[in-house]
Amino acid sequence: MATTKLAPSILTADFGRLADEVRAAEAAGVDLLHLDVMDGRFVPNITFGHQLVEALRKVTALPFDLHLMVIEPERQVPLFEGLADTINVHVEVSPHIHRTLETIRKLGAKCGVCINPGTPVAAIEESLPDVDQVMVMTINPGWGGQQMLPRQLDKVARIRGLIDAGGFAAEIMIDGGVKATNAAACAASGANTLVCGSSVYNAEKSVAESVAALRAALRGT
Ligand code: DX5
Ligand code: ZN
Repeated sequence: MATTKLAPSILTADFGRLADEVRAAEAAGVDLLHLDVMDGRFVPNITFGHQLVEALRKVTALPFDLHLMVIEPERQVPLFEGLADTINVHVEVSPHIHRTLETIRKLGAKCGVCINPGTPVAAIEESLPDVDQVMVMTINPGWGGQQMLPRQLDKVARIRGLIDAGGFAAEIMIDGGVKATNAAACAASGANTLVCGSSVYNAEKSVAESVAALRAALRGT
């Protein structure tokens, strides 16, 4: 299996020095940047929208992985045209998920479907042939720094089984509670990419040290 990719989420970064925080992740050799857009409706918090993503686009060459935690995501999607490499929408707020995924592709981005811990795998099964990525939420979305919920890696493994059995190209991203202590288990469950929020942006270690610890855990050293 290819090397597991790391996607730091800026949610727990210092927003007062965001450009530096992003550059630090890029210098540490991460694979992409995960951007959490929250609307205060789908989840209680509000983070940022396309203006901030546009500003960050000038700061880094890292691919942008956009996580839309918003109701009616199809209304927000066009605002990110040309800004995000992958746009991920939640199945729980996408009654016309097929059409929304098509819209994302027409804008020239890769498309992803996100699934919450309480949502059964069946809710995304029909989307598996159409998506570039399935984002499995291993926490209830809304906040960084939570503990990964139990049984979520079993769910990842079930989704991996469906993708492989169908011969689909979709990759799997895990979002929520990824740490050096569980990163290897996340990769073993069949994930291609790990979102790392508080395990990269935290008060204990520098970004470079945190990324190195995650890489070491994935190598098993
Ligand atoms: C939460 C976000 C996550 C968050 C993860 O709703 O979707 O991307 O930043 O943070 P950690 O890695 O600390 O769980
Ligand atoms: Zn996220």
